[in-house]
Formats: sequence, structure tokens, C-alpha cells
Amino acid sequence: MTKHKKLQDWVNQMTALCQPAQVVWCDGSEREYSAMWDILIKSGTAKKLNESKRPNSYLVRSDPNDVARVEDRTFICSQKKEDAGPTNNWMDPAQMRTTLNGLFKGCMQGRTMYVIPFSMGPIGSPIAHIGVELTDSPYVVTNMHIMARVGQAVLDFLGTDGEFVPCMHSTGMPLTAGTKDVAWPCNPANTYIVHYPETREIWSFGSGYGGNALLGKKCLALRIASVMARDQGWLAEHMLILKITNPQGKVRYIAGAFPSACGKTNLAMLTPSIPGWKVETVGDDICWMKFGADGQLYAINPEAGFFGVAPGTSLDSNANAIKTLYANCIFTNVAETDDGDVWWEDMSKEPPAHLIDWKGKDWTPASGTPAAHPNARFTVAARQCPVVASEWEDLKGVPISAILFGGRRATVVPLVNEARDWLQGTFFGSIVSSEKTAAATGKIGELRRDPMAMLPFCGYNMASYWQHWINIGKKQGARLPRVFYVNWFRKNDAGKFMWPGFGDNSRVLKWVFERCEGTGAAVETPIGMLPTMDALDFSGLNLDKAAIALLLRVEVDGWLQEIPMIREYYKSFGDRMPAELMSELDQLESKLRAAKPAAA
Ligand code: OXD
Ligand code: MN
Repeated sequence: MTKHKKLQDWVNQMTALCQPAQVVWCDGSEREYSAMWDILIKSGTAKKLNESKRPNSYLVRSDPNDVARVEDRTFICSQKKEDAGPTNNWMDPAQMRTTLNGLFKGCMQGRTMYVIPFSMGPIGSPIAHIGVELTDSPYVVTNMHIMARVGQAVLDFLGTDGEFVPCMHSTGMPLTAGTKDVAWPCNPANTYIVHYPETREIWSFGSGYGGNALLGKKCLALRIASVMARDQGWLAEHMLILKITNPQGKVRYIAGAFPSACGKTNLAMLTPSIPGWKVETVGDDICWMKFGADGQLYAINPEAGFFGVAPGTSLDSNANAIKTLYANCIFTNVAETDDGDVWWEDMSKEPPAHLIDWKGKDWTPASGTPAAHPNARFTVAARQCPVVASEWEDLKGVPISAILFGGRRATVVPLVNEARDWLQGTFFGSIVSSEKTAAATGKIGELRRDPMAMLPFCGYNMASYWQHWINIGKKQGARLPRVFYVNWFRKNDAGKFMWPGFGDNSRVLKWVFERCEGTGAAVETPIGMLPTMDALDFSGLNLDKAAIALLLRVEVDGWLQEIPMIREYYKSFGDRMPAELMSELDQLESKLRAAKPAAA
């Protein structure tokens, strides 16, 4: 239990508001974990998988109307609208409080309110932060056990006056007299995922799924933490963290921001295709970086587990993820095999002849619908990953040598280029984009910008966030990571992916590593430093010289076509737009124009 007065007062106040039948303080024990599963099995929410196939693992099916993060129901309620900025949904905080007070009033009747104290990051790390989630979902308790460090140890660390982020969660379906419970309570018509950045609070109502409900992840570790990071001079980012070791045994750590569903988990666990190189995992989704006394940025993975998208994960795409899932997992919305195990699209080349699909219905390959929901998830402890880096829980974090940004670009953007400096790196981060539509030959498709892969996760005005990145670069004595822009998704004129991806991405990581060592060869171009034709190790790949040249080309015309689009995009941020980025854009344009005669 706790002697933390502020925490006790808050829990008492929320109990009075939500009126649960009982309040349970979570201790984080094994006993508690299995007690939650007893409840979830009894309520028909979960099913235990075949113990001989997938020990200590469970299958859960959600309501078909509650299957993913709901960005259009996610709000940043700062006092001023412009502080949330044009990329976030905003509502006046006073008005939102009135709405939420109405919804939360009595919302836990007939249910148990669980108090989950959790640490994002190893308990006691100077980079970690603490939250307390109140929830009426035992499913959330089980997931939080895996995704964060939870329970009494966190309360002990908080002591009598430690700081915590209050995180309110309800599935929004009270069991008032006469109401029959359902397997997956939720309230899709009244879902709100709300953040108050000034008071650092999270209020989530109506959804029990993923980032809507596991409030340590996107809500705390990104939206609220990005605000804390701005105020305190650090970075809270949507990035994987990997450890790379060269054949001589030298280690470096690389962070990488990629939009959702661009293969971050695969890159974080990659098996290099080049001999002698090793990649190990520190984190697959979120990275918190603070300056050390030596001026370097040290990173932790604030999470303790992986909440990964299951479909597409296979021995071919990510063998280490498959090996991580050998036991002790939660699977949500995957398909069930006849022998009590799990399956999802692309797990095997041939689907099984019969399955129970994510909706609980009989399924055969002739059904014509996906057996697993495309956003079906696994929840698993990071420590089970066969390539988790031994230092992944180091309290002081790992020093970051390089940061990668990347989107899904069929056109224009080369395989890799290195920013001239931190400012140009910030510029590249700010323009990360993916093609929404297929590009007509020689033309850029419609782009979806996802700056720093933070579009749905930045808790304040995106342009002010860029300014924060610029300010980080101005810190006295900072020894900043190098910044690279990568693109695994370039297509040729025939519309085929040109780069094999997966394990072969290690070839790009090798060049990044070598640039950090000061050895990788590069040429200066308008878009920063590009590898020379022979700087990347292409040995054993079926790529001819023309393909390599295309992958490493500065497409002057393509970039020039893109300049007005970037200008237009920047304009949407009005006077919050940092002058430094406008000037980066101007410089890029004039360098491209100067390069044009030579390129013609
Ligand atoms: C995630 C996401 O779930 O980025 O990690 O959407
Ligand atoms: Mn993510």
C-alpha cells in the first residue's frame, strides 16, 4: 500500500466519481496476474491456449467495434487551441471536463476499480517516469503487467510525495442493476482519449483496446511525455532503439522513428544479412532520451514489453519476434487453430484448412475475409526476446550515436542520406512522409506527412515541437547523434520494390555505423551526405549498377517538385513555424536549383 497522500486523495476522489463496487490496489505479483486470467476466462473474455503448444498464453477477442487506436476521438485539451496546434484534435479543457465528469460519474458501478502504479522505464532510472492508472478492465491489468513495471515496487519508489501522472481509464459500461455483462465491455459511441498537457493528466473512456487503454504507452510515454520533455529539455520519441556490434566487437546504439506499420519491430530485431555484424534490441516503439553529464543523449525504452502487430510477423519477416512468442503471451484478435494455438495472415505460407477467426466464427481459406484482424496484437515481455540487448534495462540508458527517420516513399527519397548537422536532421524529421496514393510515373503521389513519426503522438503544437528539437541542438556542450533519412520502400518504374529490406537493412546500418566512426565514404549533395556508389555493402544482392545508382540518386527534379508541397505544409503552422526550418527549406531549394544544370 502507500502513504502517498496525493495519490490516496486522488484515488478516493475517483472512487467517489466512478462508484466501483470495490477498489483493488495492484501489487504486480504473479498471483495477481493469474487471478486476472481466472476472471477473464470466467467472463468469456479470454481463453487459455493449448499449454503444450503455447504455455501460459491467452487468446482474447475484442468487440468488433473496438479494435484500434481511435485518432479522431483523441484530444489534446490545452488551455489554448494553438498550443495543441493544427495536427491535433482540440477541445476547451473546461468543456471537456464537464463532458468527462458526466461520463465517468458512476461508470464503474458493479465493477472493480484496479489501481495500477507503473513505471515507464526501469524503476529508479533518472530517465524513467511514473504513472498510476485506474481502470475497470482486468484485461488492461494483465497487459500493463507485461508492458510496464507495475505494483508495490513502484509505490515504494514513489514514497510519500513522488511525482506521478494520473491516468483514468474506464471501458464505459457500468453494470447497473439488471445490466448483463459482456465479454468485452466498451462504449464506442462515447469514446474519448483525452490529454490535459498543462496538468499532465490522461482520461480515457469507452475503449479497452491497445493504446486507448494501456495508458502508459502512447498517452503517457509519448503525448504527455513529449510535453514534459519540452519543459525539461529532453526528448520523448516514437522510436525503436537498437544495439549494433561490428565484426571487431565495437558497439553503437541507433534510434529510429518510422510511422506506425513501417516495420519498426522488424528493424529492432533484425538478423543482419552481412557476416560478422550483430543487431540486438533495446526497444521497438518508444525512446526517451536525456542528456548525460558528457553531453551525449542517453536513451531508455520506457516499456517492458512489446505490443506488436501480429499479422505479417513470420519466421521470414521477423524470426526473433516469433521466437519471443514461445510462451507467456497475450494474443488479441488473432485466429485460433484447431489444436488450440494461434495463427494470423502470413504466419505460414499456407493458411490452415480451418480456423476460428478473430470474431469467433468458423473460417476456411475460402472465407474471403482475414482470419486475424489486421491490427491483431501480441503482448509479450521484452526479456523473452532472444536478441534483447543485455543492457536494455540499464538505469543510465544507452548513448545514442545515430537517429534514423523514414517513411514509405515509392519516389524521390533515396535509400539513405545523412543530414549535414542536427538542424538539417530536424528538417528531414519534419518532412517525413509516406505516399498515400500510387505515384503516376515521374510524379509524386499524394503524401501523408508524419513528422518524426509523431503525428498522432505529439502532445502539443507540432511546430513548437520542431522548435524544441532545434533548441536541443543548441544546448551548450551537446554531443549530438548524427541524423539519417532512410527509405526502404523505393519502387522502380515497373512499380516493384527496389530494396529487399528486412535483414538487408543491416547494410544501411553498417554505413550509418561507419559514418559514426568517421570511416564511411560519402559525397556532399543538396540533401546532405549520400553514400558513394561503393560505400554500401551490396555484395550478394541481385542489384545491378543502374538499380544502385537509382537507390542512391539525388532526384533533383523530384525534390524540386516537392519543395512547394513542403512550403504549403509549413504554412499550415502559421507563426509557430520555426524560422530555422524555413531557412533550411530555402537553402535546399537554392542548392537544388544550383545542382540542376549539372544534373541535366
Ligand atoms: C503502435 C502504433 O501501436 O504506432 O505502436 O500505432
Ligand atoms: Mn508505435
